[in-house]
Amino acid sequence: MALYHPFLFALEAERAHRLTIRALAAPLPLKGVERDRRLETKVAGLVFPNPVGLAAGVDKDGEAIAGFFGMGFGSVEVGTLTPRPQPGNPRPRLFRLTEDRAVINRMGFNNGGIEAALPRIADAKRPGVLGVNVGANKDAADRIADYATGVSMAAKVADYVTINVSSPNTPGLRDLQHGAALAELLAAADEARGLTPLFLKVAPDLESADIDGIARAAVEHRIDALIVSNTTVSRPSLRSKHAGEAGGLSGAPLKALARQRLADFRAATGGELTLVSVGGIDSAEEAYARIRAGASLVQLYTALVYEGPGLARRIAKGLAKLLERDGFANVADAVGTSKP
Ligand code: FNR
Repeated sequence: MALYHPFLFALEAERAHRLTIRALAAPLPLKGVERDRRLETKVAGLVFPNPVGLAAGVDKDGEAIAGFFGMGFGSVEVGTLTPRPQPGNPRPRLFRLTEDRAVINRMGFNNGGIEAALPRIADAKRPGVLGVNVGANKDAADRIADYATGVSMAAKVADYVTINVSSPNTPGLRDLQHGAALAELLAAADEARGLTPLFLKVAPDLESADIDGIARAAVEHRIDALIVSNTTVSRPSLRSKHAGEAGGLSGAPLKALARQRLADFRAATGGELTLVSVGGIDSAEEAYARIRAGASLVQLYTALVYEGPGLARRIAKGLAKLLERDGFANVADAVGTSKP
C-alpha cells in the first residue's frame, strides 16, 4: 500500500479511483475493523464497532465492501444506487484540487443499478454496519417512486438505508429537500422501509428556514438519522486550477460549512434526531470535535484521497485516546458535550 499515494496521483482522478476499487475488491491481507470498547456505539438500534464510516460515493456499486472494512472503518455506505443503471455525466467529471486538499465532482450518479448491486451487498461479510444509499434516475418520470423502489429493495439487505436528496449533480434533485415534496418523499420512504432504519442525507447549501423544515419533517416521518452533509455548490476561496469546475466541492474547504450545518441541525432538532457529520473530516481531532458538537457518527471520503488508506484506523485509534484523555467511557457519553 505504500506506493498507493504517488502512483495514483500521477493518474487522471477517475482512473485512479477505478484502480483503487479494483485493488480493494481483491482479497487483501487487511487488519479488519478497528475495535475498542470505548468506540463501540449504538445508533438506530445498530451496533457500530467504531463511529468512523466510509461516506457514500466511494464504493457506489458495492464492489469492495470487505476492502473498506479492512481499512478499519466501522461502517461502509455503498451507493448512491438508482433503480436503473445509468452512465452519469460525460468525463472528465472528477477533479483533484490538490493545493486545496479538495475534490470537485459532477459524477451524476453513475452506477450499475440497484438490482445488480444487491447480490454483492447481500453476500458481503459484515464485520461492521453496512448502509445502502439510494437515489433517483436522472430521467425518472416519478422521482419519489424511484426512491420508494430503491428503499424497498435496499431495505431487504442493508443494515440501514439512506435517501440521498442532496446531490448537486442531478438537476432538480435537491428540490426534494423542501416543503410538500419532502413530506411526500419521506412518507413514501417510510412505507417502503419495513423495519430497516432510514437515514436522510442533506446538502450543506441550505437556508435556516430549510433547516427547520427538514428537521421537523424528519422527526414527523420517523427518520432515524440525518447525514449532514453532501458536497457544496458554494466556492470558498480556492487556489487550484480546477476551482472553476462545475459540481460538488468536498474536502478541507467544506470543513467550516459542515461544522456550521451540524451546529444548525443540532439547534433545530434539540437533540431529538441523531446526527451524522460529514465534510472535511481528516483527523481524530476533527472527528472528536464533530462528536462533541452533536454527531453520533462521522463519515469521510475526500481525506482518504490525500491521507491514504491508513486514515480510518488512525482516526479511530486517535478517537479512543481523546475519549480517554477527557474521561469519557465511550462515544455516546461525548456526543453533544461541547457548548453550542
Ligand atoms: C460524493 N458524495 C456522494 N454522496 C452521496 O450521498 N452519494 C454519492 O453517490 C456521492 N458521490 C460522491 C462522489 C465523489 C467523487 C465525492 C468526492 C463525493 C459525497 C460524499 O459522500 C460526502 O458527503 C462529501 O464528499 C463530503 O465529505 P468529504 O469528502 O469532505 O469527507
